Amino acid sequence: MYNKEMETARLAALEAGRIIKGFYGNLEEIRKKGKRDLVTEADLLSEKAVVSAITKAFPDDMIIAEEGGEQGKISDRKWVIDPLDGTTNFAHSFPFFAVSIGFMVSDEVVAGVVYNPVMDEFFEAEKGKGAFLNKKSINVSATANIRDALVATGFPYDIDKKSDEIIGRLKRIIVEAQGLRRPGAASIDLCYVANGRLDGFWEQDLKPWDTAAGSIILTEAGGEISDFSGKGFNPWLKSILATNSHIHNDMLRLMGI
Ligand code: IPD
Ligand code: CA
Ligand code: CA
Repeated sequence: MYNKEMETARLAALEAGRIIKGFYGNLEEIRKKGKRDLVTEADLLSEKAVVSAITKAFPDDMIIAEEGGEQGKISDRKWVIDPLDGTTNFAHSFPFFAVSIGFMVSDEVVAGVVYNPVMDEFFEAEKGKGAFLNKKSINVSATANIRDALVATGFPYDIDKKSDEIIGRLKRIIVEAQGLRRPGAASIDLCYVANGRLDGFWEQDLKPWDTAAGSIILTEAGGEISDFSGKGFNPWLKSILATNSHIHNDMLRLMGI
């Protein structure tokens, strides 16, 4: 149904990944958008390439991109783009970052791609068609208990303003789970729950471009995604809990809302 959209997103993510890889370990300038929030020439050139590919293919669609904000006409068809998710990792040559492109129709995410150019891992999904990693079908894990679960989280850039709440939640989960990671790119964290490398992931204050693409990849792989109170997903939620579905209720309890 969205063949042209998927193909456009695929090619745009591959091109953006090629651009990002060219700067990897080789950055001339790193600017700060906030105390911890970085932006590099790779973020900007990646976004330029993705936006131009999408605008060329779908000139009437709306674009919401991290660096340039809302662009184009107001439309029911929206592209939600993180040109480089995991910029802190990227700036430190830590090979865990991605290009993330989600596509929405009538406020529902219907397609998404997430591409990690260093590992050459390409995750993709279209509504009703399953989720794939490098063209192979993927599914969430069967882990049924938190004590057997490997879970991940992330922290907002302004963590200093709400560290008690965040550390409180982290402590409740860390003592129950088998293991915990903080990989550093929310879009890939969601994909790792989708292919069973992780059993769950939570984070607060994410932005639509962090979660749009990953959300459809996760749900098409059989996962569940909500906010910390169990409310159904939309990319503008203030908090995100994504799991293999089996541990969702237990994780919700530990979110402590
Ligand atoms: C960040 C990453 C990180 C998450 C932050 C995000 P950025 O995105 O996804 O894992 O913890 O909350 O802002 O700034 O690298 O695109
Ligand atoms: Ca991001
Ligand atoms: Ca980004």
